[in-house]
Amino acid sequence: MTTTGLEGIYATQSAISSIIDGTLTYRGIDIDELADNARFEEVVFLLWNGDLPKAISLFQLKKDLVNYGTLPNEIHSLLKSFPCNARPMDMLRTVVSALPLYELEVKELSPKENRKKAIKIQAQISTIVAAIQRVREGKEILSPKPEYSFAQNFLYMLSGEEPSTVAVEAFNKALILHADHELNASTFSSRVTVATLADIYAGITSAIGALSGPLHGGANEAVMSMLEEIGTEDNIEPYIYQALSEKKKIMGFGHRVYKLGDPRAKHLKELSKKLTQLTGQRQFYEMSIKIEQVIAREKGLLPNVDFYSATVYQSLGIKKELFTPIFAISRTSGWIAHILEQYENNRLIRPRAEYVGPQKRGYVPSEKR
Ligand code: COA
Repeated sequence: MTTTGLEGIYATQSAISSIIDGTLTYRGIDIDELADNARFEEVVFLLWNGDLPKAISLFQLKKDLVNYGTLPNEIHSLLKSFPCNARPMDMLRTVVSALPLYELEVKELSPKENRKKAIKIQAQISTIVAAIQRVREGKEILSPKPEYSFAQNFLYMLSGEEPSTVAVEAFNKALILHADHELNASTFSSRVTVATLADIYAGITSAIGALSGPLHGGANEAVMSMLEEIGTEDNIEPYIYQALSEKKKIMGFGHRVYKLGDPRAKHLKELSKKLTQLTGQRQFYEMSIKIEQVIAREKGLLPNVDFYSATVYQSLGIKKELFTPIFAISRTSGWIAHILEQYENNRLIRPRAEYVGPQKRGYVPSEKR
């Protein structure tokens, strides 16, 4: 018996995040509570350790995330060597896979070494994404500041300026909402990879590759491209009708697991409304509301996490090519939690394929074909 896309199959047990009756929890805590109250660093600790941190552990984690956030000079050179039209997700995947070249202990898979690598990767991925944009703009690469939070540091390393409180709060919330999501495609890839006892860098590199596609994390950039292509409210219905008649997927809608709505989307919709009001650039938000209505009416589909995150990031002045790499910064926390969980109780992940090809037959020499 096979199921296309492994729909409905429980491929592993996990104690990290759950989706039950449309509610998403991280380690048993409702995402709504975390999004409204937590800092991203607390969520990282929660995902990796099972509980929220006490003050001393949080202090240490914040310190480590800053201290390890500076990139080796070789990585600066690598970033600068890419063609100027290279796509940020390709750059990110390549750079993350290059990080272990400058590590001494890569092959050491002890829990202690894995924890050290985990913090380094989480710290460096934020610097890398900001650096990708700065190199594309011909600007110098920045390192995180000790007095800033993780969210603050990313926005600072991107722009070179102190970010506003509103921007930091919004970005912090977006990071929390994207941090983990049970056995999504990229997380599954990371678990499959490390279940061979490949190292954590290999796991994260696989995950970044899986995240890049438009059916997964690539959808947020595709939403922005769609909004730009539609251009005006008048063009929404003709565009959507045309796309649906051609059986095209509308980016940012639908979900494999949620059929009654993605619990993360409402937070991003609220943020999008707030930020677009502040920037005075309401056009894309108003268009998004109308698209949501048309898709609900025509297909009965609801927005997922990627739909309103597009206008949230756009309002923060972030270029659309960076939307999916930003998703990767946040989801790295979840990937790492799953990788550590996989190592703790590992067995090679090796399913079967039901063979549906030709029946057994003989080899025909080339002159007789
Ligand atoms: N636009 C239009 N139709 C959609 C759709 C979308 N975004 N998402 C699902 N559908 C339709 C399919 O065409 C299909 O209709 P049919 O039964 O008439 O053929 C039905 O809904 C089921 O879709 P399917 O592709 O089988 O669902 P899935 O569980 O395999 O895929 C997604 C889930 C998320 C990949 C899918 O909804 C999608 O492609 N969404 C757009 C990309 C996106 O936003 N991805 C980010 C996910 S967080």
